[in-house]
Amino acid sequence: MFSISSQVLYLVSASLAGFVTVPLFLRSRKLDAIPTVVSTNSWRSAIKNLMGASGIIQEGYNKYKNAPFKIPMLYNWIVVVSGTKLLDEVRMAPDDQLSSVEGANDFFKTAFTMGHRVANEPYHLGIIKTQLTRKLPNLCPIIEDEVSASLDDMFSLQNDEWKPVVALQASRDVVSRVFNRIFVGLPLCRNPDWLKFGNQHAIDSIVSMAKMDLFPRFMLVAIFLTSTRNHVERGVEFLGPAIMERRQSADRARGGEVVDVPDDFLQWLMENGTESAERDITQRMLNMIFVSVQGTASSLTRVVYDLAAHPEYLVPLREEVDAVVRQDGWTKVAIDKMYKIDSFLKESYRFDGVSSLVMIRKVLKDFTFSDGRVVPRGCYIAAPSYAVHHDVEFYEKPDDFDPFRYIRLHRDGDDMKQQVVSLGSNFLAFGHGKHACPGRFVAATIQKIILARIVSSYDLKLDNAPAPSKSVEFGVFIGPDPNTTILLKKRSFN
Ligand code: HEM
Ligand SMILES: *[C@@H]1O[C@H](CO)[C@@H](O)[C@H](O)[C@H]1NC(C)=O
Ligand SMILES: *[C@@H]1O[C@H](CO)[C@@H](O)[C@H](O)[C@H]1NC(C)=O
Repeated sequence: MFSISSQVLYLVSASLAGFVTVPLFLRSRKLDAIPTVVSTNSWRSAIKNLMGASGIIQEGYNKYKNAPFKIPMLYNWIVVVSGTKLLDEVRMAPDDQLSSVEGANDFFKTAFTMGHRVANEPYHLGIIKTQLTRKLPNLCPIIEDEVSASLDDMFSLQNDEWKPVVALQASRDVVSRVFNRIFVGLPLCRNPDWLKFGNQHAIDSIVSMAKMDLFPRFMLVAIFLTSTRNHVERGVEFLGPAIMERRQSADRARGGEVVDVPDDFLQWLMENGTESAERDITQRMLNMIFVSVQGTASSLTRVVYDLAAHPEYLVPLREEVDAVVRQDGWTKVAIDKMYKIDSFLKESYRFDGVSSLVMIRKVLKDFTFSDGRVVPRGCYIAAPSYAVHHDVEFYEKPDDFDPFRYIRLHRDGDDMKQQVVSLGSNFLAFGHGKHACPGRFVAATIQKIILARIVSSYDLKLDNAPAPSKSVEFGVFIGPDPNTTILLKKRSFN
């Protein structure tokens, strides 16, 4: 599918080269002080970078680590920075100088795939940071309930039967049910048509993002209008009745009747009141499902693969889970004590990664580093997460999968710093600074519960000799091989 359309895109884009190399050239004079990786202004190399960026970023990192270097994009430059000092300068810069919202809009085309309001009035960020994150202690038992129900529905296993499971598909299925449980609640979270639609919306959005990456901005609108517009209409068919029902019950409550008020993301959006049209609320929910499910499912796929490829860690993980759950049940207290589970997840994020760049910022006003080097308005700045995660300066034997390495780093009283959700310039899986992923607490909690549930209920292994897990790259995204299959069996108690 990509191969045919990308040839066409290549021709179209190449014919537009005349328009776009002008700004590239002008900006590049100001940028002279920052070294370039890959031949400057080469059309072909720019195309190649968009298809998969990790190779070229690694090359730049090997040469210029801890100093900025620049990479040409189709019609712009991206300046890649690493090291605590430079990253601190980037994350301290004000939003009207280095913009995370506009960086995301340009890279992920949020405005076009998710709508202008979602892109430019991101009030859902506040709801993620407050209601969603603060309610995690209440949500843990609910998440566990949905995880168990999903696993039971998906894998009805006979004793001693090894069943092949397509890891990405299974991860998506579990993760989307769990997020929908805390986003829209029962019964919609188990409606297969709704789940399938959410998934299709995500896939179509990624395809549109990927295609649009090759086009200068002025062509975007026409392409978009054909692709995801009718998704919102379809979404309203599912969410509209739920929104209506909640409004009616709010009316009854005002009339003095005692009603059950749901406690989920949809409710928090409605109560916030920034938007009231069904369409707008639906669009925002679709965006929430997109940002939550994709990253979480694709990293969970790696986690499951890593466990199947290293079955020697199953028993220690299982012992930890059995012990804390026996004592505290499936509570937040128990989840917080699952240090090995946490360390395993973190190692998997480090080792595999879902993105070759994070902290993508658009420069709105010329930005000057403390050493005097300038990044002009209109360029992008980002951090090379994958390269940093594989740097021997920060990780001993970085190419070994060593899932308990963070536990060995625990010192009295500072084990919090080693957690998967804690940020730093050497662990960038969730970005860094004030725009770091606000969903990381919920994402990590859900993944910990899923991993804990898997190790306590199943044995797993690869169906052939462990081979390095393949990945699929597109732009800055690194996705797991969608075809990876693992084998699953009921846990044997012996
Ligand atoms: C394991 C799963 C996830 C990974 C690896 C991940 C990763 C990231 C990364 C790298 C960023 C960019 C940070 C930066 O620029 O410094 C980000 C931003 C974001 N993530 Fe996540 N994320 C995950 C799950 C989630 C979930 C579950 C939610 C929602 C509940 C979410 C919502 C967001 C939002 C809204 C932003 C934009 C923040 C802003 O612009 O201020 N993510 N995420
Ligand atoms: C709606 O959300 C925004 C952003 O999180 C917040 O500042 C505002 O107080 C919220 N409004 C209400 C009524 O909750
Ligand atoms: C997955 O399998 C399909 C169908 O067999 C194949 O076309 C595709 O290339 C495979 N993907 C990867 C990343 O190997």
